[in-house]
Amino acid sequence: MSTLLVISGSPSATSRTARLGRHLVRRLSLGGFDVEHLDLRGLPPDALLGGDPAHPELRRALDQVAAADGVVVATPVYKAAYTGLLKAFLDLLPQDGLAGKTVLPLATGGTIAHVLSIDYALRPVLSALAARHVVGGVFLLDRSIEVVDDDAVELAPDTEGRLLEALDAFIDSLPPRPALAAA
Ligand SMILES: Cc1cc2nc3c(=O)[nH]c(=O)nc-3n(C[C@H](O)[C@H](O)[C@H](O)COP(=O)(O)O)c2cc1C
Repeated sequence: MSTLLVISGSPSATSRTARLGRHLVRRLSLGGFDVEHLDLRGLPPDALLGGDPAHPELRRALDQVAAADGVVVATPVYKAAYTGLLKAFLDLLPQDGLAGKTVLPLATGGTIAHVLSIDYALRPVLSALAARHVVGGVFLLDRSIEVVDDDAVELAPDTEGRLLEALDAFIDSLPPRPALAAA
């Protein structure tokens, strides 16, 4: 079974994006995947901004990316693009840090005016990191993500439907496991 990683790139302590990330982790786990959540907000700020990939917590996060076959990259839209927190982390990856991996980009935002930010801002960065395949992204309006208790979220029905379709495409596009590819 493939190893998956969900990265959340919001600096907010009450992040809907991070809750959405945990929602996806639960859903993918139920599907039998080995999946972890990497909430970038929890990384040590000095090491992150100082670009110190040798820091043990950053090393562990970078190793999580390296070990994943598929990565969901979830970010709020900030100033018509992705967050600086996400960029600070992506800048620590090697130039081919997403090579061989399938990536699903997700963005949450306050206005559909920035629905294309995935394609004009985030996707080029993921491609520059040599992602094997970046599947069609999903933009979710913040008001379509309802926080129902401390951690869980409920999505508007059409939003949930779009998300599930994107997850299916992501799973269908995961790289073959080496043992199968070699057989
Ligand atoms: C500093 C900042 C900048 C933002 N810029 C935009 C923007 O340009 N376009 C947009 O659609 N939403 C923008 N938003 C709204 C957030 O993208 C939206 O509320 C998002 O769901 C927040 O996610 P979070 O709860 O995970 O932090 C901005 C919010 C903040 C705090």
